[in-house]
Amino acid sequence: MPAGDFEARRMATPSQPVRGIEIEWRPLREGDLGYVAALEAEIHSAPWTIANFRDSLAAGHSACLGQSEGRVLVYGVLMLAPGEAEILNLSVVPDARRRGLGRALLRRFVDDARRLGAEQLFLEVRLSNTGAIALYEAEGFARVARREAYYPPRTPGAPREDALVMRRPLEPDPSRRVILDVADGRA
Ligand SMILES: CC(C)(COP(=O)(O)OP(=O)(O)OC[C@H]1O[C@@H](n2cnc3c(N)ncnc32)[C@H](O)[C@@H]1OP(=O)(O)O)[C@@H](O)C(=O)NCCC(=O)NCCS
Repeated sequence: MPAGDFEARRMATPSQPVRGIEIEWRPLREGDLGYVAALEAEIHSAPWTIANFRDSLAAGHSACLGQSEGRVLVYGVLMLAPGEAEILNLSVVPDARRRGLGRALLRRFVDDARRLGAEQLFLEVRLSNTGAIALYEAEGFARVARREAYYPPRTPGAPREDALVMRRPLEPDPSRRVILDVADGRA
């Protein structure tokens, strides 16, 4: 099942509290792209454009957002490939940070990747992004590689920045095992 289809089904969930904030999770849709791309430009020094988001949706990536009282506070994109998944985007608006939203979406992506059969989950992060790295390490990601001069500089004239590649192994999802066993005639 493409990750995007999975997202569309799973995201039909009621709102959930994250540290007291009632968050409604749903798939990112075409109609969100202008607004989310504007947030993206505020959040990132090398932001995704509307076209990047559109291409990602067209490729079947799982893109979702969390909103509270109609305002988007957190969004992200997960790509699924055979046996593995990669978080392509994870963003929280500045005034909603350190309230557990980044962690909540990261855990949703871990859960989605497992359910979709991935055995490991990757991501890339700027070496200087110590806050994000702290979050990823706290959630079981380990540093596995470094890509030199991978990111454009944050400020004009500064050198390009290295990326850290991080990986988290995923435990098999027991409910998926049952489904596969039934499909294979083993149960
Ligand atoms: C990185 C980011 C997604 C974290 O989201 P968040 O909602 O602020 O993070 P959470 O509140 O879920 O943090 C969970 C834990 O991660 C760690 N953490 C998160 N941000 C941190 C920071 N700036 N400094 C140190 N630790 C941090 C802490 O351990 C934190 O737990 P605590 O608040 O109980 O101490 C958010 O800061 C962001 O969107 N940054 C800009 C975009 C970005 O860098 N995205 C990642 C690109 S790879």
